[in-house]
Amino acid sequence: MTLFSYKQTKSISIALLIALPWLLSGCGQESSTLTLRLAHSLDTSHPVHTAMEQMAEALYKASEGTMQLKIYPGSQLGSERETIELLQLGAVDLVKTSTSPLEGFIPDMAVFGIPYLFRDEEHFWSVLEGDIGNQLLELGIPKKLRGLCFYDAGSRSFYTKERPIRTPDDLRGLKIRVQNSRTSIQMVEALGGAATPIAFGELYTALDQGVVDGAENNAPSLLTSRHYEVCKYYSLDEHTMVPDILLVSTDTWDRMKPRQRAWLQAAAKGSVQVQRALWREKTTETLEKLRTGGVEIIHPDKGPFQAAVKALHVAFMKTASGQFMEAIKNEY
Ligand code: GCU
Repeated sequence: MTLFSYKQTKSISIALLIALPWLLSGCGQESSTLTLRLAHSLDTSHPVHTAMEQMAEALYKASEGTMQLKIYPGSQLGSERETIELLQLGAVDLVKTSTSPLEGFIPDMAVFGIPYLFRDEEHFWSVLEGDIGNQLLELGIPKKLRGLCFYDAGSRSFYTKERPIRTPDDLRGLKIRVQNSRTSIQMVEALGGAATPIAFGELYTALDQGVVDGAENNAPSLLTSRHYEVCKYYSLDEHTMVPDILLVSTDTWDRMKPRQRAWLQAAAKGSVQVQRALWREKTTETLEKLRTGGVEIIHPDKGPFQAAVKALHVAFMKTASGQFMEAIKNEY
């Protein structure tokens, strides 16, 4: 009888590898300093990483050096799915992930994968910062995943190697990488492409070797991942607004003293302001850098894309998460 699958065994091995020095040093409580380990998939030049560094500084300052963050960027500890599993095992303390792979753990997160759900940024942030956002942050607690805050991840658009996407028809016959999420797969299929889930850390090679013909993401991720070296067409159809989220393991959270939780919460909150300001500042600059890097930026008519995903909206409304979609649509 096999007790663990290959994937679980891999996660457990990574967990042990990370946890060993930590256990030996007294569960992160080295000489009264609590060191929290944070994993994410992005490059150190990405605005989200910059915000994490500021969060580390703020936490260190507020706690007078008694708390620190050790950041593991660039999928060093595994894909987002794997690091979420590590979080559940208590082998890392914090994970910054896109909400898309969280769908496998917290099904209602799928609502962010519904294309053209948000009318604009104002709508998006009023949802994230209001009751719905707070509710979604807490939904994972029974699964050992407590949400601390959301970060801006702009909107996601297609980028391709061989030909530009001007209409959904251009996606026909193309293999498009998506995140490990059912709604992402459904979205690409509704638009006519062939969806292929691949971990972000493996995508450069997959694009380069022609395993897939394109992918979809926000501009800073296209730039900092260097996928633009391979994909020279970026079509701003802006199909989804999928936020990033910072999760803390409930094991870590429960072990922390109330004042340590307050410092962490405040540092996370502060990092959201830093990240959002950086995001706004970088948006135009990023597109300019992509252009200079030889990328053609296309502004397609969004109408045909929106029409092609209408059935997805209807189907999602009938699922158990439909209530979130309804609430989001009715927000302000
Ligand atoms: C965005 C997001 C990442 C995620 C990536 C992806 O860049 O910020 O957290 O890994 O999309 O497409 O996988």
